[in-house]
Amino acid sequence: MVFENDSPLSLFPISTSLAADGSLAIAGHSLKELAQVYGTPLYCYDGKTIRHQFHALKSAFSREYKGEALVAYASKAYFSLGVARKLAEQRAGVDVVSLGEIRFAQQAGFAAAGVHLHGNNKSEAELQAALDWGIQAIVVDSLDELAFLEVLAERTGKKARIWLRITPDLNVNTHPHIETSHSGSKFGLHIVNGQAAEAIRRAKESRWFNLAGLHCHLGSQLFDAKPYRMAIQMLFALAEEQQYVPEELSPGGGWGVRYVISDPSDDSHPWVSAVSQTVHDECAKRGWQLPRLVLEPGRHLVARAGVAIYGVGAQKDTPEGTHIIALDGGMADNPRVALYNARYTALVVERPLAEGEQKSRLVGKFCESGDVLIPEINMPRVSRTDHLIMPAAGAYQLSMSSNYNFAARPTALWLEPGKVEVMQERESADQSRWWKGKA
Ligand code: LLP
Repeated sequence: MVFENDSPLSLFPISTSLAADGSLAIAGHSLKELAQVYGTPLYCYDGKTIRHQFHALKSAFSREYKGEALVAYASKAYFSLGVARKLAEQRAGVDVVSLGEIRFAQQAGFAAAGVHLHGNNKSEAELQAALDWGIQAIVVDSLDELAFLEVLAERTGKKARIWLRITPDLNVNTHPHIETSHSGSKFGLHIVNGQAAEAIRRAKESRWFNLAGLHCHLGSQLFDAKPYRMAIQMLFALAEEQQYVPEELSPGGGWGVRYVISDPSDDSHPWVSAVSQTVHDECAKRGWQLPRLVLEPGRHLVARAGVAIYGVGAQKDTPEGTHIIALDGGMADNPRVALYNARYTALVVERPLAEGEQKSRLVGKFCESGDVLIPEINMPRVSRTDHLIMPAAGAYQLSMSSNYNFAARPTALWLEPGKVEVMQERESADQSRWWKGKA
């Protein structure tokens, strides 16, 4: 079913439909029934939406960009072995940031040539694993790391294929916690203090590096293509100044998605065309060959594919006139509201088209007042037999979930027509070992 842009249903996975009884279904599966079978909180991913997002971006770049372009999933958005395998099957590349993510990428069958390793403080074990696997690029984040990696490469007897992460000192319009390119950023080699230029010089001189490219990542949940243009121009100017022609170029990820219907369109066309045109223009100006482009979308590939389903629990009214509806999840599975004031919407699974009747606040079950999922929303009347569903839940929720109050991380399902796969099993208190010491 296709829903109008002003309907909250347009924020849901593309396989969302209304079942015969008027309740919500994804890929033909009744969500009410899935919630009964698997319990709540429950996360469901629609396979079709992820494939659609990936292929739409890939084909947009192959239409607009005259060179080669690789779409590498930023796995921090959500990684499980299940999702890793599905993306590896689609021949996506992958951006990893930890030993755990490296191991998942290996097990899932990603080709080493499409893997790159990020991080502002990679451990020796992480760098060594990347060297041993022979990945596309270790993305060097500082002069300190460049020196550290040189020693490891020499010890291993293997040249490290690297990109340099360059910080262009640009401000972008997003929440400060997810802005990464400003002059106070902990990420990357800053241009303004000369560290970026110094790193290019040192990397070119060392026999232990193959300086394969330059990278920058501006921030996340961005809808404006202009900063991408400016950043790419700055990378080219820097490269030219250092007489270095990059074979690969990564302008990062960060393109936004819609969480609520008032959010801007998440059409990636402005991003794809700004990046492609700028690289074409900068190369043409200098007579350089087009670099291989590597895009690193996380949220854009998986956010819309995921929904979070909660059971309704206790309700009360506050003296200031707010109706409170408590759900059986909250900040332990979705810390984004507490961290970034992220906005969400919610519908009733059993009656998604029901009109709102009361100004409500959706809160979680965890022991702090910041545990709010939606501060204010007009909701239909609900009871303990109902379930609420929040769309655009596929990115940075489960991957940032915690065991706060000994919460068990929820089940995550992968839905295809006629098929339900458990990608992530619900934890239970005795499976979570971190609080079990010897004492
Ligand atoms: N590349 C690099 C180097 C990154 O650091 C990130 C995200 C990405 C790509 C992918 O960005 P995306 O396309 O997903 O926007 N937890 C925050 C987002 C943190 C983003 C961290 N880095 C949130 O929930 O909004």
